[in-house]
Amino acid sequence: MINDRFRAGPTPAPPDRRLMSYSRGELTTLIMPHMQNILGDLFGGDLMALVDQAAAVAAIRHAGGPAVTKSIDRLDFHHSIPVGALVTCCSTVDFVGNSSMHITVEVYSEQVASGERRHTHTAHVVFVAIDRDRTPKRVPRLVAESAEEKARYEAARLRYETRRA
Ligand SMILES: CC(C)(COP(=O)(O)OP(=O)(O)OC[C@H]1O[C@@H](n2cnc3c(N)ncnc32)[C@H](O)[C@@H]1OP(=O)(O)O)[C@@H](O)C(=O)NCCC(=O)NCCS
Repeated sequence: MINDRFRAGPTPAPPDRRLMSYSRGELTTLIMPHMQNILGDLFGGDLMALVDQAAAVAAIRHAGGPAVTKSIDRLDFHHSIPVGALVTCCSTVDFVGNSSMHITVEVYSEQVASGERRHTHTAHVVFVAIDRDRTPKRVPRLVAESAEEKARYEAARLRYETRRA
């Protein structure tokens, strides 16, 4: 089924505000042998590339244009992921400053034979929206609706304020 956002034709100019749910991203990949470390699990550097891509999806959607990675604040490896697993990276913009977007990426692995799913990694990534001159550009305000979104917003706001302090 085609998502409605792809039916509408040309993308309009970014509005003043966007719902948190609008920019939610999801990226699923099969872990191939060339991505393994010496133990036969997904190599950390490849995992970081997947996290960065998933964060970019949410950032570019929210900004409605180009955005670049400014910082990977935190990346926790809870469990390893074996070759042959399916990996899904879920990204949300949880807070915005002026030009910065504070994104959480949660990574899940799925063993296709058993159907077992596991939350394997959590990352906090900062993207900055840029204009044609590659200078920081203001992004739409972020609107959190559900209780879960409001909790995400508050946690990310605290991280942002702590860094600035
Ligand atoms: C992103 C870039 C344009 C920002 O330029 P800059 O001069 O640092 O911009 P500013 O100092 O005005 O900061 C811009 C925003 O980033 C935030 N920021 C700056 N340093 C940060 C850091 N270390 N961690 C998190 N956020 C940071 C600022 O708080 C500001 O947020 P706000 O606008 O919401 O208040 C520039 O650093 C750049 O081009 N970096 C390279 C990006 C890149 O190549 N990424 C990999 C490829 S995608």
